Amino acid sequence: MRRNRRTTPRTARVLGSLLLVAAAGAFTVGAAPAPPKTAPAPPRTAAVPLDRVVPAPASVTPGGAPYRLTRATAVRVDGPAAVRRVGAYLTGILRPSTGYPLPLTDGGSGGIRLHLEKGDYGAEGYRLRSAPSGVTLTAGTPAGLFHGVQTLRQLLPAAVEKRTVQHQSWEIAGGTIEDRPRYAYRGAMLDVARHFFTVAQVERYIDQLALYKVNELHLHLSDDQGWRIAITSWPRLADYGGATEVGGGEGGSYTQADYRRIVSYAASRYVEVVPEIDMPGHTNAALASYARLDCDGVAPPRYTGTEVGFSSLCVSKDVTYAFVNDVVKELAALTPGRYLHIGGDEAHSTSHADYVTFMDRVQPIVAGYGKTVIGWHQLTGAHPAEGALAQYWGLDDTSAAEKEQVARAARAGTGLILSPADRVYLDMKYTKDTRIGLTWAGLVEVRRSYDWDPGAYLPGAPAAAIKGVEAPLWSETLKTSADIEYMAFPRLPGAAELGWSPAATHDWNGYKVRLAAQGPRWDALGIGYYRSPQVPWPHG
Ligand code: ACM
Repeated sequence: MRRNRRTTPRTARVLGSLLLVAAAGAFTVGAAPAPPKTAPAPPRTAAVPLDRVVPAPASVTPGGAPYRLTRATAVRVDGPAAVRRVGAYLTGILRPSTGYPLPLTDGGSGGIRLHLEKGDYGAEGYRLRSAPSGVTLTAGTPAGLFHGVQTLRQLLPAAVEKRTVQHQSWEIAGGTIEDRPRYAYRGAMLDVARHFFTVAQVERYIDQLALYKVNELHLHLSDDQGWRIAITSWPRLADYGGATEVGGGEGGSYTQADYRRIVSYAASRYVEVVPEIDMPGHTNAALASYARLDCDGVAPPRYTGTEVGFSSLCVSKDVTYAFVNDVVKELAALTPGRYLHIGGDEAHSTSHADYVTFMDRVQPIVAGYGKTVIGWHQLTGAHPAEGALAQYWGLDDTSAAEKEQVARAARAGTGLILSPADRVYLDMKYTKDTRIGLTWAGLVEVRRSYDWDPGAYLPGAPAAAIKGVEAPLWSETLKTSADIEYMAFPRLPGAAELGWSPAATHDWNGYKVRLAAQGPRWDALGIGYYRSPQVPWPHG
């Protein structure tokens, strides 16, 4: 279990909050201010306490009076164009609700300053300092500044997320936050195969991920029910194999330009896209599109049900590897990110020997196009390539033998991404009454989703093998953005916190209070979430 030296002990943080309230004097957190007797000033809104952020920062030191945004506040940037873009992103959030001009200017001091410097920030860490004279965000990289902006955003009242002018005061509590992630890989997966989601819907989800410092978007681009990415050399995959979905709807697919738009939007939010082509199972849409991929040369009908494990690419045919080569080549060329996910789960119609043969031939193809393989953890039953990552999706009660197979691979150098299905599969119902979702991994309420430690989760896996946490969202029962949001919120922020925050900050009783404070923010953003009775939401 990793502990960050710079983490302020919990008692110091609480004491710091009390001192802050005493020092600020002008308001009491949680109590409504007395209405002014004379001229109408904007209603005073209590600053959000510095330790109300999700994911919990590594170190929080409250102190001093708050910074107050005014009509005169400037956003000052210094550094390369990427810093200016982060500044522009920030003003894009702040201007509509504050109604302030917030000019983006080069250099200077005061106001809100975004500043790059060499220092002990790591690839994604940042420092935020707030005092009456201004707020300064400092980082070693633009990514660090971007994550700092998400913290800054959460330190402003929830109404800052509204898109119309709100007449109220905008204060940021005084003090210092020093922050950096526990894990480099903090992911979310969206299944666009069972039901198709448009570019705009994916972009909306990317914005929601960014708010919680998630930095990997895994797109499940193919499955039995649909092939969702245009491959120029095999056009029927998308044209025919993409034109349906679970339940028989019209489906859809991304053109290569669409996919590039998603990748570039994600990059603007410091999110890396991890494309998945699931193989050798989960391939009915491909097998239906091209008869020559089938061992018997007969294309099956397209599939719109929700069973799994009935399809397999033909491991003994050379055309299979020509197909994989073409798909991987095009997808790798479209993807600036480091990874290419090759699935490998639930290959129940592929013999074990064929599965091993297939993975032995396909992994070098991925490496040949410069990408690192990720596979579902069944890959550890074959020969994971050097540097490959395995994504664990078992349950607490998965057999010890299966867990040991994964742990053994981890001890031999395979990195792990943890996605335990009875913890962070966002498509599991919260309770038996949840209107959408599945139950095969169990009912997953908010506390269960949050209350585990990735560092200690898998017996026998070395801590250094854990590369991060990912929350998958499968879409057999999901059709709209409202469906995505209802299942992701409030569990997604918990998975994000497990990936970002030091283990020492883990505490359900503290977390549920911080999570509750996100509710009004989601209301302002138009995110409809599950009002779990486990969380003390502010308005009942
Ligand atoms: C999976 O849920 N089949 C990875």
